[in-house]
Amino acid sequence: MNLVIVGTGYVGLVSGLGFAKLGHQVACVDTDAGRIARLDLGEAPFYEPGLKERLDEMQQAGRVVFTTSLSTVLPNADIVMIAVGTPARPTGEADVGAVFSVADEIGSLLAHEVLLVVKSTVPVGTNRQVLAHVRAAMAQAGRADKAELVTIASVPEFLAEGRALADFDRPTRLVIGTDTEADRLLLDRLHEGVEAPRVFLSVESAELAKYAANALLATKISFINEIANVAERVGADVRDVVRSMSLDPRIGPHFLQPGVGYGGSCFPKDVAGLYQMAGASGYDFKLLSAVIEVNNRQRERFVKRLEEALGGLQKRAVAVWGLAFKGNTDDVRESAAIDIVQRLFARGADVTVYDPQAMDPARRHLSDRVQYAATAVDAAAGAEALLVLADWIEFRAVSWSTLKGVMLEPRVFDGRNWLADLDLPSFGFEYHGVGFSSGLPAGRQAPRA
Ligand SMILES: NC(=O)c1ccc[n+]([C@@H]2O[C@H](COP(=O)([O-])OP(=O)(O)OC[C@H]3O[C@@H](n4cnc5c(N)ncnc54)[C@H](O)[C@@H]3O)[C@@H](O)[C@H]2O)c1
Repeated sequence: MNLVIVGTGYVGLVSGLGFAKLGHQVACVDTDAGRIARLDLGEAPFYEPGLKERLDEMQQAGRVVFTTSLSTVLPNADIVMIAVGTPARPTGEADVGAVFSVADEIGSLLAHEVLLVVKSTVPVGTNRQVLAHVRAAMAQAGRADKAELVTIASVPEFLAEGRALADFDRPTRLVIGTDTEADRLLLDRLHEGVEAPRVFLSVESAELAKYAANALLATKISFINEIANVAERVGADVRDVVRSMSLDPRIGPHFLQPGVGYGGSCFPKDVAGLYQMAGASGYDFKLLSAVIEVNNRQRERFVKRLEEALGGLQKRAVAVWGLAFKGNTDDVRESAAIDIVQRLFARGADVTVYDPQAMDPARRHLSDRVQYAATAVDAAAGAEALLVLADWIEFRAVSWSTLKGVMLEPRVFDGRNWLADLDLPSFGFEYHGVGFSSGLPAGRQAPRA
């Protein structure tokens, strides 16, 4: 099939290359001319494992083109997908302005039968509005007679950054919201070769399914953070609690990692978006307001703990490993690490940071006074405390004796429990994880008096 995808971000580009790999002919459109020029030259615009290789492969196969000109590629399209950003407004409500502006542009150009697919995460009702925008623009352009040929589908995306290509190739499920049997069949054919259960449902249910999934994952994170906070107080070890809980198949092991809370471009905005959406429908979604509050508090708790251990942060040398919202990505949007670094600054700390991929994106968000180190060990040189804020594999492979040798005080505050199993106290470090009460590893905690 001929596919046009508007928006070449994490979702649009990964999906575009994924559909090309499935054998379709894909045109990727973006208003960012710099991004399109780089893609045209075979350069990946962001870090994602395997992305560059797939880009090369699909370009060599002639299955993908990149352009800023929607009008050039639209006439050939069987399906047009919208994958532009839907960031949160200050109120928490999703800003769907970019989605509507794409819809207006499509409508002003369209003259043939097409299935429009919204991949962006949008509040319930948005797909219908997108269709209305397209049809109104077609009518304005004198093509009202063709407007009924355009239909809409909601196919939300569930990929996770850091393993986005694998998630596209082998998703846990395909959620396909349509109005007609014909569109359902067309989308089933589009995904031919993807082995995953198909959930066919209404457009509105598909829109809500995306928010519900992200909100539940965020709820699990806030829940286990609450358990971790209780564990610290009562002398339990949250890691052992999680081990025992997660063997219950009704609970499972996923998203029960305590730490500094969730971040990223999806969870914070989607939880806030669902809370807003529910409120606008007249329903007070109490659970979600607590999920948000717990998440915000978790970051402050972490900084407070550091401040107490150091006896103040003014002019104290603090190293930070990890700026992205998690390992394996360069995405710093709504990253807990960025927020924590800003909190450290507000308290007068001298901060040196290191991230394997996210230093450049982070510069736009951080004070000019932040020092950027070339390696993880360099970042820790002279530090009185080292904060671990993203789960990069690289951080586990550091030489602990070298690290201890360069730090002023060998203290580690692990905001992800990422090094918790490495027995850092045996290398002479004071180690603080989240959700267990001493610096000693599990099983070797001092008995409570
Ligand atoms: N990033 C994720 O992990 C993820 C996962 C699932 C769903 N989503 C959802 O998918 C959507 C896209 O997210 P993303 O992270 O890929 O966004 P992104 O910010 O990485 O990319 C959006 C792209 O759209 C382009 N764009 C904006 N307006 C445009 C226009 N009018 N015409 C053409 N291009 C335009 C931007 O230049 C940018 O390249 C969001 O709704 C998000 O919630 C994201």
